Amino acid sequence: MDGYSDQPFRVLCREYGSAMSYTEFVAIEAVVYATKKAMRMFDYAPEEKPQMSFQIFGADEDKFILAAQKLEQLQPGIIDINMGCSVPNVSGRGAGAGLLRDPRKIGRIFNRLARAVAVPVTGKIRLGWDSQTRNYLDVARILEDNGASLIAVHGRTKEMKYGGKADWDAIAEIKQAVRIPVIGNGDVKAAEDIDRMKAHTGCDGVMIARAAIGNPWIFQRRNCDQVTLHEMVELQKRHLQLMVDYYGVFGLILFRKHAVRYIHGLPGAAELRQKLMTTDSPAHFVELIGEYEERSARGDWDIHAVDDTPIAEGGELVETAECRIA
Ligand SMILES: Cc1cc2nc3c(=O)[nH]c(=O)nc-3n(C[C@H](O)[C@H](O)[C@H](O)COP(=O)(O)O)c2cc1C
Repeated sequence: MDGYSDQPFRVLCREYGSAMSYTEFVAIEAVVYATKKAMRMFDYAPEEKPQMSFQIFGADEDKFILAAQKLEQLQPGIIDINMGCSVPNVSGRGAGAGLLRDPRKIGRIFNRLARAVAVPVTGKIRLGWDSQTRNYLDVARILEDNGASLIAVHGRTKEMKYGGKADWDAIAEIKQAVRIPVIGNGDVKAAEDIDRMKAHTGCDGVMIARAAIGNPWIFQRRNCDQVTLHEMVELQKRHLQLMVDYYGVFGLILFRKHAVRYIHGLPGAAELRQKLMTTDSPAHFVELIGEYEERSARGDWDIHAVDDTPIAEGGELVETAECRIA
């Protein structure tokens, strides 16, 4: 997830049981020109291998090959091609979900990639561009026929962005249509949805995106309401520490978007959030959440004062985060 699945967050999710991880998506142009910012997005921890996927996106066939060859030198477990991004400045120029409009081009890209690199190449797709062009079965077969090792499917069209409901029946159809593994994705919101999606679609794996933000426990098959305040506080401390170790003091700034999600719904969260978002010292941040835990143990909160501030969901998050092209 762009803006979220950096190395610290992926490592944390692994510790909590995720079996596979993807980098944030990176533009092939940025890989070809090896910009510092882009290449940093491919840092990974040894424990992430072998199911560690480098995700790239673009529209230019030759640059896909050059980018994959460059990335192969970094020894990823997998290289994944994003064919799901719906934001206009990506899909509108034929990249991300824009590739779904040209299945033959997808075939050419995968065919060349299969011959150009030894590392497995996989694809992440949506169901099609819009409700009139749900070409997911064609695309899935083309991927398989041209050497893709796995397909991850977000059960929406590009036009749906993050609205409506993910179509799990379509994921089931893809699973029936190909022999390569299929990962189902879309609307796994709680731990119980993992088994529900598997049973419904027969998919080989389940991909969780938004529901993991502020809740890495989902990989242990636990929901937020099954996690104690102490566990939540300790996890935040650990996550923040990983961010500061990785990014330096800027890690705190980047951690804020996670912190908002960790504390969402807690009594007194509005006051806590205001304090957490304005400190620029990691040590002070830790003090503040420790203080919050102590005050909660003393029963200082009016239990009716539950935080119901809306948090950005789906499209809104994507418009802000997924637009960033490294
Ligand atoms: C903030 C944000 C960033 C995302 N970035 C990526 C990305 O870089 N690559 C990708 O394949 N999908 C990305 N997605 C889409 C998710 O991987 C996933 O397909 C979608 O959110 C549906 O799954 P969910 O219901 O589990 O969230 C992003 C989604 C969000 C909300």
